Amino acid sequence: MSFDLVLFGGTGDLAWRKLLPALFQAFRHGTLPAGGRIISVARDDLTDEQYRSRIRSRFDGVELAKRPTADEFARFAALLHHLRMDLSQPQDYARLAAMLQARNADSLVMYIATAPSLFTTVCEQFAAVGLNGPATRVVLEKPLGHDLPSNRAINATLRRVLREDQVFRIDHYLGKPSVQNLFAMRFGNALFEPLWRRETIANIQITIAEELGVETRGAFYDQTGALRDMVQNHALQLLCAIGMEPPINASANAIRDEKLKVLQSLKPWSPDTVGQQVIRGQYAAGTSQGQAVAGYLQENGVAPDSTTETFVALRTEISNWRWAGVPFYIRTGKRLAGRNAHIVVNFRPVPHPIFQTPAGAANRLVINLQPRDGLELHLLAQGAAQHQNAPALAPVHLNLDFDQRFGTERVGAYERLLLDVIAGRLNLFVRSDEQEEAWRWVEPILEHWRTDPHGPRLYAAGSWGPSAASAMIARDGFCWSEEV
Ligand code: BG6
Repeated sequence: MSFDLVLFGGTGDLAWRKLLPALFQAFRHGTLPAGGRIISVARDDLTDEQYRSRIRSRFDGVELAKRPTADEFARFAALLHHLRMDLSQPQDYARLAAMLQARNADSLVMYIATAPSLFTTVCEQFAAVGLNGPATRVVLEKPLGHDLPSNRAINATLRRVLREDQVFRIDHYLGKPSVQNLFAMRFGNALFEPLWRRETIANIQITIAEELGVETRGAFYDQTGALRDMVQNHALQLLCAIGMEPPINASANAIRDEKLKVLQSLKPWSPDTVGQQVIRGQYAAGTSQGQAVAGYLQENGVAPDSTTETFVALRTEISNWRWAGVPFYIRTGKRLAGRNAHIVVNFRPVPHPIFQTPAGAANRLVINLQPRDGLELHLLAQGAAQHQNAPALAPVHLNLDFDQRFGTERVGAYERLLLDVIAGRLNLFVRSDEQEEAWRWVEPILEHWRTDPHGPRLYAAGSWGPSAASAMIARDGFCWSEEV
């Protein structure tokens, strides 16, 4: 199958850091279809050769195992081309069209890795020169809008020039192997399904913790914040994967229909519930990996009086028969105590205990996404010989480490998703109605914060966030997984 992949923003940060390394890995693994072209489009006036040599030097900074040998790079570089374009100029799209139509590839991917403000212009302009035919697939990065009205406006423009099944809204969390395994665990095994409900599950916790601060993205992040950057997309997609009903088949629309229902069932907010059940925080100076680090307000590009949140913890519920009353907690933040993403399913304790058990001990399933990918099942067992009448049980766990089991040379999120786009597989991409529903749900939180005089709570870099996040969950009689 021949393909042309046009990278709008081909000299930008996302292309260098994520897309080209992922395309190279696919090339190395032999999964990138032969007969493809990767066409970088940007303002820079570069020949193909100059573009290739820039990429070559970028690969020197990539970890050794993912760096191409000279021979590998020479073969990969043959796929790379560069076209200088001013994205506001219609005649430049005509030049692009001439280049693409001369070849007429089976699959034409338009990857729009530019500033979000250009998304709709680029789509309208390439459509105006006839590049929106049935072979075209358009990939859009988040953030798609900054609130519900702006997201709807972008989707409305897209609908005018493309069919929904031509639009690939990327959420790289859906490409992570651990998220694939979550679907496999739930819908490929009969074991968990009977337990996957309110009668047996006490609460579910989704944590995406990062050790890093905002790094070089201060200016972008200050306009965005953790709710828009992580909760509206990645965390809600994980919540959908854990809470959705079994889809009728593995097709993209069957999966997306079920995810949409979860988003539609999320308990609506009131000003009171936002005030009590959504905690926002901002990191102050502290310590990360033994080094003193600056607070958020001292980061480059951040306004000195910024109230942007770098941490969110919240409680919600899925109001349906399966989950009514079960709290789902979401927590994400930068400059936390570790880089750690996991979902913890806490089961209810036994109804009538006959053993002595440590306080609060119960079964727990942990789905680890990062830094390692695996499943842990926490059980209670009897260890050493016991002589008492009511013997004591101790916690033990079964640990399935997917990296160990399947090797670490697994397909990365961007590699997987790029191959899916080229092949036209939409399963792991977000449909417009899902995205709008997620914005609709976060909107009252944004609204509340706009007028809330308190601003975010400070937490020391290197901690687990503001203590209010622990107090919030403690009100339900639970605690975060690291506090057990
Ligand atoms: C991105 C966010 O979508 O996800 C970043 O914009 C965040 O702020 C990143 O750091 C986290 O992704 P991962 O795969 O490193 O957990």
